[in-house]
Amino acid sequence: CAVREVSFVTGAVSMDTMPDGRFPEAAFFGRSNVGKSSLVNMVIGRKALAKTSKTPGKTKQYNFYLVNEGDPTNAFYLVDLPGAGYAKVSKGQRLEWERMFGSYVRERKKLRVLFHLIDSQTGPLEEDARLMSSLAGTLPVNEGRGKTQGNRALHYVVVLTKIDKQDGSVPPSVFDRLEQVLESTGLLSSREIPVLTTSAQTKAGREAVWQYLRLLHKH
Ligand code: GTP
Ligand code: MG
Repeated sequence: CAVREVSFVTGAVSMDTMPDGRFPEAAFFGRSNVGKSSLVNMVIGRKALAKTSKTPGKTKQYNFYLVNEGDPTNAFYLVDLPGAGYAKVSKGQRLEWERMFGSYVRERKKLRVLFHLIDSQTGPLEEDARLMSSLAGTLPVNEGRGKTQGNRALHYVVVLTKIDKQDGSVPPSVFDRLEQVLESTGLLSSREIPVLTTSAQTKAGREAVWQYLRLLHKH
């Protein structure tokens, strides 16, 4: 797929430390340690541009990667978010994370795709359900597969990660539980929600992720 050049732009700690919104962008969010940074590397084909770690809490800022800077018609940002909620963060830190995420989703005008990463071994956990509930109130209502608000299309896509740990498959119970949670949080109502499965290790699902990245320039 088309990555000619990619560079790290900045690690933002607030809305006003983010780069100017010249290019469309896609963001990767989810609980700590689910494999966000690893998936960013897999998607752009760089082994270790985004720093990964066995210890949750590695990514601390909204890390912006600019792909294809030299070709403005094909350039876009990938944004690797800090993990939402893990054992060591205080309630205050978790609320701060949610506050900034809410602002990001509402205010970032060129945000086009939100990838919600969930470990395929556990399926959605409590924090995932919280995030879905908050998004159910924020995401524009579905119009086909893209969600439009004014003329903004924002795709919400669930990504089940680390499928290599179960020989490349996901237990049906995880899909069932996911559907249940999407429904109970109100996200599924009047929306079609794509669910992708990936492995940063085997590169499974890379093309499926790219299908959504290609939409970045279509709106
Ligand atoms: P935070 O930045 O702490 O929120 O974590 P993250 O979501 O960015 O996770 P990261 O990419 O750092 O990966 C966490 C751990 O999971 C690392 O030890 C990775 O090597 C491992 N990991 C990530 N993706 C995969 C995968 O697809 N398969 C396997 N087997 N391990 C993975
Ligand atoms: Mg990370």
